[in-house]
Amino acid sequence: MSNSLAVINCSQVVTLSGARRPRTGGDLRQLAIIEDGGLFVRGDRIEAAGRRKQIEDLIDGDCEVIDAGHRVVMPGFVDAHTHPVFAGNRANEFEQRTAGATYRELAARGGGIRSTVRATRNASISELVKIGKHYGEWFLRGGTTTVEAKSGYGLTIEDELKILRAIKRLDEETPLNYVPTFLGAHDIPFEYKSRRHMYVNLVINEMLPRVAEEKLAEYCDVFCETDVFTTEETWQILSAGRCHGLGLRLHADQLSLSGGAKLAAELNAATADHLEHTDTEGIQALKAAKVQPVLLPGAVYALGSNRYPPARQMIDAGLAVVLATDFNPGSSPTPSMTAILSIACTQMKMTPAEAVTASTINAAYSLGRGDEIGSLEKGKCADFVIHDVSDYREFAYWFGIEHPWRVYAQGKLAFSRVR
Ligand code: NIG
Ligand code: FE
Repeated sequence: MSNSLAVINCSQVVTLSGARRPRTGGDLRQLAIIEDGGLFVRGDRIEAAGRRKQIEDLIDGDCEVIDAGHRVVMPGFVDAHTHPVFAGNRANEFEQRTAGATYRELAARGGGIRSTVRATRNASISELVKIGKHYGEWFLRGGTTTVEAKSGYGLTIEDELKILRAIKRLDEETPLNYVPTFLGAHDIPFEYKSRRHMYVNLVINEMLPRVAEEKLAEYCDVFCETDVFTTEETWQILSAGRCHGLGLRLHADQLSLSGGAKLAAELNAATADHLEHTDTEGIQALKAAKVQPVLLPGAVYALGSNRYPPARQMIDAGLAVVLATDFNPGSSPTPSMTAILSIACTQMKMTPAEAVTASTINAAYSLGRGDEIGSLEKGKCADFVIHDVSDYREFAYWFGIEHPWRVYAQGKLAFSRVR
C-alpha cells in the first residue's frame, strides 16, 4: 500500500498556519485559507498544503489521490476539555431538569457527579474501554481527532487508576488521540462528606504519587467551586500536582464567582476552564499570567442557563481563547465541536473564524501540542478532516448535523461517510 496521500480539489484548505504561538486578538480571525488547494501527506506527516498545481506536482506513481469534490479541508478539531470515561448516563436527571430541578439540587440529593461515580465504580476496565470506544467514535465522526480526557468518576485510588488506564487503552487501541488529565478532585465522595480534608489528603498523598509513578496523566485538574473544592484546597492539590511534573488546568468560576480564574493565574496554570462567572479582574489576571481560557458553552446550553462566559471581553483583553465540548453525562452531553461552534457564534458572538481557531490551533497549544497538531503545516501530524461544505463558515451555520465526509488521524482514514 502506498504511503503517500494527496487530497485535491478542495474548495478551501483551512491551514491555520502562522506564528508558532496561541492566537490572540485579530490573529484569531486569520485562518490562512488556500482557495482551490490541496494537501500532500507522507506517512503520518503533512508534507505540503498548497495550491492545486503545487500538490499535483508532488503526485507520483503510488500516491493515493483523494478528490475532495470541492469540499473544505481543515485540521481535526482538538477538544481540550472532556470527561469521556464513565458508565451509565443521566437521562433521568435531564428529564427532572425539564420539570424544574436544578443541576445543584440534583447534586445535593446524591445525583449529579456522584450518581455517575456509583455507576463507574461498578464497571470493570474492559466495560469502560468498550463504552469509551463507543463515545470515541462519536468524536471522530464529528471531526475531532484529539481529546483531552479527564478521570474523576472514580474518586478512590483504584477507580481513578482504572479510568486513567482505560484512557491509555483508548489512546492505544483507537485512532482518536487522548491527552490524559487526573481529576481525582472532581467531587468529595459521599463516604468522605464529613471529613473532606481526609479526601484532599488522599488525593495529594496517595492518588497523585501513583498517577505520576505510572505516568498516567499529563495534567492535573480540580473542580474549584463553592460546595465542591475551595480555592485553598485547589491550591494544595494543584501545587502537589505540579511537584509531580503535571501541567495544571482547573474548573473555575462555573457556577459562581469563586476565585478560580485568579487562582489559575497565581498558579500559572495552562488553562482555566468554564469561567461563566469570571469578572474583569479575573480576566486581567488570566491575561497577565498568559493562562488560556477554555470556554465550554455546551454546559451552559445543556443546563438551560443563559449565562455564557464573556468571550468578546476575553478576546478584547487579548486572551488566547479555546472552545471545547466538556463532553460528560451531566452538564454537557455532546461530543460535537460543530455544535459548540454554533453556540459560540450565536450566543457568545464569536465570529466563525475565531471559533475555528479556538477549537484547533489554540486548543492544541493549551495541551502543549501546538507544534504537533492544530494546523495544516509541513511536518505536523496529518490529522485532518474533509468537511462536506464548501466554506468554513458553514460549520457553525448549518447546525444540528455533522459535516465530516472523511476524517484522517495520523495520516490514516479514521471515519468515512458511506457516500
Ligand atoms: O465540567 N463541573 C464539573 N464537572 C463537569 C460536570 C460533570 C458531571 O456533571 O458529571 C463539568 O461541567
Ligand atoms: Fe468539565
